[in-house]
Amino acid sequence: MEERITKLLQEVQQFSGAGREAVETFRLKFISKKGAIHSLFDELKKVPAEEKKKVGKILNELKQSAEAKLAALAQALESEQSPGSVPDLTLPPIPNKTGNLHPLTLTRNRIIEIFERLGFNVADGPEIEDDWHNFTALNFPENHPAREMQDTFFVAKNPDVLLRTHTSNVQIRMMTSGKPPFRAIMPGRVYRNEAISARAHCFFHQVEGLYVDRNVGFADLKQTLYHFAKEMFGKDIQIRFRPSFFPFTEPSAEIDITCLICKGAGCNVCKQTGWVEIAGSGMVHPNVLRNCNIDPEEFTGFAFGMGIERVAMLRYQINDLRLFSENDIRFLRQFHTVI
Ligand code: DAH
Repeated sequence: MEERITKLLQEVQQFSGAGREAVETFRLKFISKKGAIHSLFDELKKVPAEEKKKVGKILNELKQSAEAKLAALAQALESEQSPGSVPDLTLPPIPNKTGNLHPLTLTRNRIIEIFERLGFNVADGPEIEDDWHNFTALNFPENHPAREMQDTFFVAKNPDVLLRTHTSNVQIRMMTSGKPPFRAIMPGRVYRNEAISARAHCFFHQVEGLYVDRNVGFADLKQTLYHFAKEMFGKDIQIRFRPSFFPFTEPSAEIDITCLICKGAGCNVCKQTGWVEIAGSGMVHPNVLRNCNIDPEEFTGFAFGMGIERVAMLRYQINDLRLFSENDIRFLRQFHTVI
């Protein structure tokens, strides 16, 4: 019997295995009621009295070491299943990557916000337009070279159906469908048959502005755009009005601000001048008011058309217009935290 006990002790010590099954196998074989150690204790009763003490001692040692081994195996099993291997259901979820607004949308929203606070409404108009709303009503004479300023995409070979070349068509739609006063901005996409480069694209975005009322003067235009530039780019921004020509305004001016990309040193965005044109503007031409059945003796107004891409380029220091429409996720993601 002593021999068997020693052999079992060896087996206990050498037992190796992991996992729930191994622990159970060990328990059944050595420790359970039907296990080896239990039956040895039964046998112990029959051992002659003089040997009982000695055999009992080694049997107890076997029992203790089997129990210790079982505890060690159980402990190993538990730590195997402890945090790390089992998901912690109380952890907050990893947030899904959400998209973000496009830099042009962010810029358009900011422009709208600034003008809304000045009391401008937001209006909308069609991108597929007729000649009258896009050109004729805006005082472009027929066959006048001014129409060439804006290379037009025509739709279906019909010279009367075109993709609008500017958002000024919405001025006409607004003035012909209501009564003055009007004070609104009109953001939207426009199209021109231009070669695509870092500075030009065949489609881009504008925000048209229109303010028609009694006694609206050039000073109102200037003050409104000064205010806009300072709100958009900060108090230190420089702005200048340069005399210009548009058929639908008289007088007309182009509005430049200091180039924020090169800080005036000269770069490809400002054509090395240190200034970037962000808008055309002027006092609404009396012919335009007349075309919309508004009496130019009674009402005057100013208008402007601003390039959203230009504003966004200066705002975010972007030097290539094409980035806006390439859908490169690495470019777009940079605006994730921008509001
Ligand atoms: N429509 C002009 C363009 O696309 C911009 C413009 C100039 C709009 C003067 C105006 C304006 O409303 O008054 O180049």
